[in-house]
Amino acid sequence: MVEQSERKKVTVARFLDRKIKGEKIAVLTAYDYFTARILDKAGVDSLLVGDSVGMVLYGEKGTHPVTMEMMLAHVRAVARGTQYALVIADMPFMSYQPSLETAITNAGKFVRDSFAEAVKLEGGIEMAATVKRIVECGIPVMGHIGMTPQSIHRFGGARVQGRKEESRQYLIESAQALEEAGAFSMVLELVQADTAKEITEAVHIPTIGIGAGKNCDGQVLVVNDILGMYDIYVPKFVRRYANLPPIIQKAASDFVADVKSGAYPSEDESFLKKE
Ligand code: KIV
Repeated sequence: MVEQSERKKVTVARFLDRKIKGEKIAVLTAYDYFTARILDKAGVDSLLVGDSVGMVLYGEKGTHPVTMEMMLAHVRAVARGTQYALVIADMPFMSYQPSLETAITNAGKFVRDSFAEAVKLEGGIEMAATVKRIVECGIPVMGHIGMTPQSIHRFGGARVQGRKEESRQYLIESAQALEEAGAFSMVLELVQADTAKEITEAVHIPTIGIGAGKNCDGQVLVVNDILGMYDIYVPKFVRRYANLPPIIQKAASDFVADVKSGAYPSEDESFLKKE
């Protein structure tokens, strides 16, 4: 547990500072107030309200059905529960791709209505102009390259990127374009470890890996994955730090048994007539 008195609020500047000092950055996803409070107390540097919410909370097959409305509500809840971590809002499918105006308007909503401190969007060179405009509006942007889930149909599945020379070259050029556009960091998702290392060395902003090996400046995982709460598909890079479903199931079945037997509620758990 990180000593709370020593902690400073993580800002975009502190994020960048971590890379300069060679300190690794720990990021987890969060989608609700209470989980955000727990993760923030645990010492994470940043809470990413990912569009993975579609899969891990709503049971969708992918991230495409996630809307701005859903994301605004989740980001607001996470921001309320967070004191130290940098709160990043993931821009959902079609909230930034159609035009620069759409992108700026929606990025602004995350900051104005949901108190996000930064936004994340998927895409490389082709998204550099969008990143630049949002940053010019005063909103920090985290890039996201590699296997970007909103483009999964173009990739033909969750395939590791950066293995072939063409893909490696595209990723390095994309990372440099995002840095030039003003992104303060970028996620590298499902990227061959050597390519991720090369990208990390090629840019001055922190790279945050997910399935991209140990040489990134930081790592991000989906909180439901590390808690064993998402078992539909467990990727190779996920490390399970806890297995909550049996604990929750046991608590629920104990409650059912107590209700059925009359053991719950007791007198102490009831409002009795005052003498
Ligand atoms: O949506 C998400 O949770 C993400 C992370 C996995 C990087 O984009």
